[in-house]
Amino acid sequence: MPLVGSDLLLDARRQRSGVGAFNVVGMEHAEALVTGAETAGSPVVLQISQNAARYHGGLAPIGLATLAIARRAMVPVVVHLDHATDAALIEEAVELGFTSIMYDGSALDHAENVARTADVTRRAHTAGVWVEAELGEVGGKDGAHAPGVKTDPVEAAEFVAATRVDALAVAVGSSHTMTERTAALDLDRIAQIASVVTVPLVLHGSSGVPDDIIGAGVLAGLTKINVSTHLNKVFTAALREQLAADPAAVDPRTYLGVARQVLAAEVARLIAVIAGRSGATTERH
Ligand code: G3H
Ligand code: ZN
Repeated sequence: MPLVGSDLLLDARRQRSGVGAFNVVGMEHAEALVTGAETAGSPVVLQISQNAARYHGGLAPIGLATLAIARRAMVPVVVHLDHATDAALIEEAVELGFTSIMYDGSALDHAENVARTADVTRRAHTAGVWVEAELGEVGGKDGAHAPGVKTDPVEAAEFVAATRVDALAVAVGSSHTMTERTAALDLDRIAQIASVVTVPLVLHGSSGVPDDIIGAGVLAGLTKINVSTHLNKVFTAALREQLAADPAAVDPRTYLGVARQVLAAEVARLIAVIAGRSGATTERH
């Protein structure tokens, strides 16, 4: 039950449950994310950002490795291109076999965001690929945690109707790349948007949101929960600890393998929180 489309978000939305969407940096990440999802017995979205593709010198090497890892998974896995502003990269993702893409026009003015998103969506849909777009602006993409423009419910419904996107990223209080889990979500706004928007809602910058608030956000109407920085923090801490414990280590597999295991365990835990199965209260590590 390997590589699938994002239709699984529709099932999750119907059940008022959430799906974890986690960023792939290198192969160990992709492997750990799938192992974590298998342990949790839940579907997962593996996402590669435009920035991560640039880090690897192109989308194909990391994209093809991630697709191969997804295809052998024992749970449904979506492979998604995240925060793409480059239309050519989106075309490439579709050709490689990605099942979902995000076009990020949030920095454009509204009319241009609508026009470009609609165009990207039309093309992606001809290949059966899901499209996520962003309305409002989730802060922190430039490293500054200034609150962005929050998503207006009426505008959101109009945006989805005009662009025909399959999922909508909303600005409801979170901010990208937070290393402390102290963000608050505007739960009333989430409920208002969910009551007028017919597609699954996506929370970006979820690393800064405590477990209990993620759970409340899903109950209020969020479906796809994007987490990256928090998992990188866990991975890097495990790596640092392992290198300190074994200063003579030479083979990268000895320390990367440990970090991969620790990451997989945190992914399994987080998926249970997102899917509403953990009884999460106020865990903020
Ligand atoms: O698109 C990716 C996510 O929004 C991740 O954000 O690194 O703040 O968790 P984060
Ligand atoms: Zn994001």
